[in-house]
Amino acid sequence: MTITGNTSIYAHIGFPIHHTRAAALFNGLFEDLGIDVAVVPFEIEPDQLSATIPAFRAWRNLVGVGVTIPHKETMLSLVDELTPMAKLCGATNVIRRDPDGRLIGGQCDGTGLVRSLTGAGHQVSGAKVLLSGAGGTARPVAFALADAGVGRLEIANRTREKAEGIVAEIRAAYPDRDVRVHEDADEFDIVVNTTSLGMNSDDPLPVEAKVLRPGVVVADAVMAPPETALLKLAASRGAIPHPGILMLRSQFEVILDFLGLTSK
Ligand SMILES: NC(=O)c1ccc[n+]([C@@H]2O[C@H](COP(=O)([O-])OP(=O)(O)OC[C@H]3O[C@@H](n4cnc5c(N)ncnc54)[C@H](OP(=O)(O)O)[C@@H]3O)[C@@H](O)[C@H]2O)c1
Repeated sequence: MTITGNTSIYAHIGFPIHHTRAAALFNGLFEDLGIDVAVVPFEIEPDQLSATIPAFRAWRNLVGVGVTIPHKETMLSLVDELTPMAKLCGATNVIRRDPDGRLIGGQCDGTGLVRSLTGAGHQVSGAKVLLSGAGGTARPVAFALADAGVGRLEIANRTREKAEGIVAEIRAAYPDRDVRVHEDADEFDIVVNTTSLGMNSDDPLPVEAKVLRPGVVVADAVMAPPETALLKLAASRGAIPHPGILMLRSQFEVILDFLGLTSK
């Protein structure tokens, strides 16, 4: 890509930031679409985060900011406005800079996953979903699944109280949804791993193998390795693997919409 005086910037901010996959992927996708935006990684220490905000407001060719660990929660109180999903999730992972300098915090982790599933032809509305994990990714995924009209959502997590906490929050926000802590059911339409299990070769599976039935969609948020042990086992049992890169690619589409870049 060629950066010129007309190029707009999308800053990707975290600490540390060297591990980010979004910068390389998003730069390629912007280039493929002919959108003159360059993604630049920004490594900012937590105690310096608030100092970056006036610069973001003043920076006229900044279209937005991707926000990653550990800034997703702190950023909530620093921006000027939040989308309903960012408020619900208590975390923002994308900021739009409006032309007047106002910063709007959004949330696309979960909507990215839902969009990737529906884009691949898997119906989320009415589906029975097992969500493994109750960390920073699980929360927006759970809210987005609830928002998309999931039929039943069961959440399993090593630390059960965290799963109970998300269940209670979703019940409060979506009283009509059937949301519960996972016990021993094994028939699901969609299984989603949002734990970090699968990143190391000796990790245990993030779900019980009995849920990996033929035809079940098995989505893994883990992107490294691209094909986790969970996805391999799912495929070998006739389930449908849905790798983490699809979630990230769909987040890009959600971000394009949010930044108003879709039609450019
Ligand atoms: N594909 C994408 O677009 C995308 C987007 C965001 C994140 N991700 C990936 O999602 C994964 C999780 O990220 P995160 O930010 O949500 O992490 P996080 O907030 O640290 O949460 C980690 C989760 O994994 C569980 N866990 C960790 N070690 C475990 C173990 N040994 N046994 C059982 N459970 C364990 C934790 O359970 P406890 O609550 O019991 O600690 C928690 O539920 C990472 O691989 C990240 O790269 C992918």
